[in-house]
Amino acid sequence: MNRLKRAGIIGTGSCLPARVMTNQEFESFIDTSDEWIRSHTGICERRIADSDIATSDLSAEAAVRALDNAGLKPEDIDLIIVSTVTPDMMFPSTACLVQDKIGAVNAAAFDLGAACTGFLYGLTVAQNFVAAGYYKNILVIGAETLSKIADYSDRNTCVLFGDGAGAAVVSEVPEEYGILSTCIGADGSGGDLLKLPAGGSRIPASAESLRDRLHYIKMDGSKVYRFAAKAMEMAAETALKKCGLNKSDINYLIPHQANIRIIDSAVKRLKISEDKVYINIDKYGNMSAASVAVALDEASRKGLLKDDDIIVLVAFGGGLTWGSAVIKWKAIGR
Ligand code: UT7
Repeated sequence: MNRLKRAGIIGTGSCLPARVMTNQEFESFIDTSDEWIRSHTGICERRIADSDIATSDLSAEAAVRALDNAGLKPEDIDLIIVSTVTPDMMFPSTACLVQDKIGAVNAAAFDLGAACTGFLYGLTVAQNFVAAGYYKNILVIGAETLSKIADYSDRNTCVLFGDGAGAAVVSEVPEEYGILSTCIGADGSGGDLLKLPAGGSRIPASAESLRDRLHYIKMDGSKVYRFAAKAMEMAAETALKKCGLNKSDINYLIPHQANIRIIDSAVKRLKISEDKVYINIDKYGNMSAASVAVALDEASRKGLLKDDDIIVLVAFGGGLTWGSAVIKWKAIGR
C-alpha cells in the first residue's frame, strides 16, 4: 500500500469588497447604536459587496492571489472547493463559476456547505485528497456575500455580517510540515438555530415566502453563543490530540470571527495569551466561511506565522458544525 502523503498550505489569498459599512450607518435605519454593536460583538465595520458583485467574483480574485502566492498557474489546479452559504445561484456550483473565471481548465469543482465551518471542512477534504495521492493541487475557498441574505430590518442579525473571500492552495509538502491533523463534526439537531428557511426544496420561493421574509438569515443568537466557545475548545483539543499535541503547543490561533466575546471565552478555555490570537472581526464582522480563510491570509502576509509554528485554525457554525486544523507552518511557495 502507498504511504499517505503530507498535505500543507503553500499559498493564500483574500479579497474584500472596497465598500466599508460602519456601525453608525445602521443607526439611521434600525434601533441600534455603535456602542451596542461594539460592546456586544467587537465589530466596528464590515465590507459590503456592490449589487453587481456575487460570491464567485470575490472567490475568483482570492483564488488568483492564492495561486500567485503559491507560484502556481490556474492549469496546475486539480480541484476547486468553494465553501459558502451564499452561492451565486442554486446551480451551477459557485466552484464551477470560479473554475471558468480563473481558467482552471484541469480542475474538478464543487461547493461545500458547512456554514461558518466551511473552510475547515474544505481543508479537511483537500488534505485527504492530497494525502491519498488522488490530486496534487487543490484550491480551497471560503467565500460569502452575506449582505445579500442579511435582513436589514432585523437588528438581531444584520449588524453581524460582512462580505469577503479567502483562498488557500493545498498541495503535497515535506513530511515535517503541513496539516498535522483536522477535526470536523456536526450536530444536526441544532439546525434550526441558524438558517435561511426558504429558496430550497422545503420552502420553494413564492409570494408567501417573500412576504414572510423567509429568504433572510434567521438566528437564535444566544443559543448559538452558548454552543460556540465550548465547540471551539472541543474542536481544537480534538485536532491537537489527534496529532499528539496539546493546548500548550499552540503558537498561534486563528479562530472564526463571529463575536469577540466568543473568541475571548475560547481563548481563556484554551489558555492561550491574547497576543497569539488573530483578530479582525472589528474590520469585517462575521464573514461565515470566509472568516478563517481571510484571517489566515492576513496573518500570513503580515509575517505573524513563523516557520515551525504550530498554528490552530478553529471554527463553529450553522448546522450546527465545528472544525479545527493543526498546521506546522512553513512559508513554502511564498
Ligand atoms: O458564525 C456563527 C453564527 N453566529 C454567531 O456566532 C452569533 C452568536 N451570538 C452572538 O454573537 C450574540 O448572541 C449576539 C451578538 C447575536 C447578541 O448578543 P447578546 O449579548 O447575546 O444579546 P441578547 O441576544 O441577549 O439580546 C440582548 C438585547 C435584546 O433586547 P431585549 O430583548 O433584552 O430588550 C436584543 O433585542 O439586545 C437587543 N439587541 C440589540 N440592541 C441594539 C439585539 N441586537 C441589537 C442591536 N442593537 N443590533
